[in-house]
Amino acid sequence: MNPPPQEARWKEALATLRAAGLWRELQPLQPQGDDGIRLRDAQGHALLSFASNDYLGLAGHAALRAAAQEEMALSGVGAGAAPLLGGERPVHAALTEALARWLGVEAVLLFGSGYLANLGIFAALVGRSDGIYADRLNHASLVDGARLAGAHLGRYRHGDLDHLETLLQRHSGGRRWIVSDGVFSMDGDIAPLADLARLAERYDATIILDEAHAFGVIGAGGRGSVAHWQLDPARVGVRMGTLGKAFGVYGAFVAGSQPLIDLLRHRARSFVYHTAFPPMLAAAALAALGLVEGEEWRRERLRSHVRHLHGATTPGVWMPSDTPIQPLLVGEAGHSLALSRALREQGLYVPAVRPPTVPVGAARLRITLSAAHAPEDVDRLRLALEQCR
Ligand SMILES: Cc1ncc(COP(=O)(O)O)c(C=O)c1O
Repeated sequence: MNPPPQEARWKEALATLRAAGLWRELQPLQPQGDDGIRLRDAQGHALLSFASNDYLGLAGHAALRAAAQEEMALSGVGAGAAPLLGGERPVHAALTEALARWLGVEAVLLFGSGYLANLGIFAALVGRSDGIYADRLNHASLVDGARLAGAHLGRYRHGDLDHLETLLQRHSGGRRWIVSDGVFSMDGDIAPLADLARLAERYDATIILDEAHAFGVIGAGGRGSVAHWQLDPARVGVRMGTLGKAFGVYGAFVAGSQPLIDLLRHRARSFVYHTAFPPMLAAAALAALGLVEGEEWRRERLRSHVRHLHGATTPGVWMPSDTPIQPLLVGEAGHSLALSRALREQGLYVPAVRPPTVPVGAARLRITLSAAHAPEDVDRLRLALEQCR
C-alpha cells in the first residue's frame, strides 16, 4: 500500500530541514546527583551541562524536593480541574501572596507555563484596533501572543529606541503597547527598561515585560528588571515571570495591579481553560522563592562565573552579555553544530542554537551558567573552548 500523500509532503519538509543543517532531536540525558548539571547520556558518558536555565541551581535542591513531597502527601499530584472549577488550594494562595509581596505588586495569577501566560495576556488585554510595538528579538511566545490578539504588530530593531519611537509616533487607532523581554533569551542582554518606561509615559503606552530570564537573576533580591533599573513597579503595567528557570520548578505567573489580575482571571483563555497548577509544584516554587530572595551568594557566584568565562579566547565571538546567558556567536548553523559536537567529545554539553530560533547567519552556542557550577567547571569550559580554536 502506498503511504498517504501527506506523508510524502512531511518527508520532503524533513529532508529540507536536514539538508539545511537544521535537524533537531531530543537528547536522552539523565541527571546524576542533585545539582542538575552533571548528566549521563544514553551511552553512559558523563557530561557537564552548560545548557540549563536553572541559573541558581535550585531544580534539585533538597528544600524544593521536601516541599513538593510534603504537599504531594497532602494534595496528591495533579490539581484535577481548571482553577475556576476545581478551587484554589491554600498552597496556590500562599504562593501568589508571597510572589506579590516579593515584587511589591497588588496581585499575581498563576499560569501553567510562560508560553500560556504570554498567549493569555495579549488575548485578554489587547484590542484589535491597538498597536503592539515589540523588540524584534522577543521570545516566540510573545510574538505568538501578539499575533493571536489580532492587533497591528510593529517590530522594532533590537534595542533600537529611535526605531521604537518612530513606530509609536506613527501609531493611530486604539491603545499602544510596548513589549519586551527583560533579559533576552538567546542574546542574554538586558532590555533598556528605564528608557522603555520613559517612552511608554510619553506616548501613553503600557509595557508588557517578559521576565523569564530576569526574575531570580538580576536586581536586588532577584526581583528582576524593575529592581535592576531601580524603577517604581507601577511603571511597568504587566510583568510575566516563569517558575521553570531560576526557580527550578515549572509554570509561570503574571504580576501587577489588582484590576489587571482580575481581568486576566476572566479573560485570559489560557488561564480559564487550563488545568490548575499542580499544588506540589506550587509548594516547591514557594520554597524556591525563599532561596531566590534570601541567598544572594548564588547571584554573586553567577557574576563571578560570567567574568571568568569572558576572559577566554574562543572559536567564536562573545556577544555582549552580563547575565548567565553567554552566547558565543559562530555564524553558520553547521559550524555551530560541529563546535557543539567537539565540546561533547570532551564531556561538555553545550547545545548549538540555530535558525529559526535565531536569525539566519547568527547560529551560536548558547552557554548558560549556573550557581551549581564550581569555578573549576567554568575553567574546564574555558580550556575546551580555547582548544577548539
Ligand atoms: C523569554 C521567554 N518567555 C517565555 C518562555 C516560555 O516559558 P515556559 O517555558 O514556562 O513556557 C520562555 C522559555 O521557555 C522564554 O525564554
